[in-house]
Amino acid sequence: MKILVTGGAGFIGSAVIRHIINHTQSSVINVDKLTYAGNLESLTEVSDSNRYAFELVDICNRTELEHVFAEHQPDAIMHLAAESHVDRSIDGPAEFIQTNIVGTYNLLEAARTYWNELEADKKPTFASIT
Ligand SMILES: NC(=O)c1ccc[n+]([C@@H]2O[C@H](COP(=O)([O-])OP(=O)(O)OC[C@H]3O[C@@H](n4cnc5c(N)ncnc54)[C@H](O)[C@@H]3O)[C@@H](O)[C@H]2O)c1
Repeated sequence: MKILVTGGAGFIGSAVIRHIINHTQSSVINVDKLTYAGNLESLTEVSDSNRYAFELVDICNRTELEHVFAEHQPDAIMHLAAESHVDRSIDGPAEFIQTNIVGTYNLLEAARTYWNELEADKKPTFASIT
């Protein structure tokens, strides 16, 4: 299975990716914008795997997201990209609205477009976890 993980350089996403690469046969596409919260060093133990790919992409960018879907043809999505440190939202709510609302909407729309074009036998097994 090929799993697209957003926010894979973050706290939860990097643990998920290490688990997938170390304990399953699945592949991962890590889609992350690398904000202050993203750290690729947390993935050094798996980043050389031929089952791991990294895409430096902002989930707010629909065109780039669609390119990632078309290139990698994932079987499932785990959406973990977020502005997650809520105390920061008091001083700067705009980033939270962009990533957590607009970005999530973009990802869902890109996934729906991709799913609509999947072959009929692949549609029932496609999974999205947010
Ligand atoms: N950490 C926890 O204990 C915990 C508990 C429950 C739920 N969650 C939820 O899990 C999710 C991930 O949490 P976390 O602790 O890993 O967050 P985190 O802040 O550690 O990581 C977020 C990741 O998302 C990336 N990112 C941010 N904006 C992006 C964008 N526009 N496009 C692409 N990538 C972007 C960052 O670069 C970073 O790598 C959040 O929705 C959070 O609310 C976390």
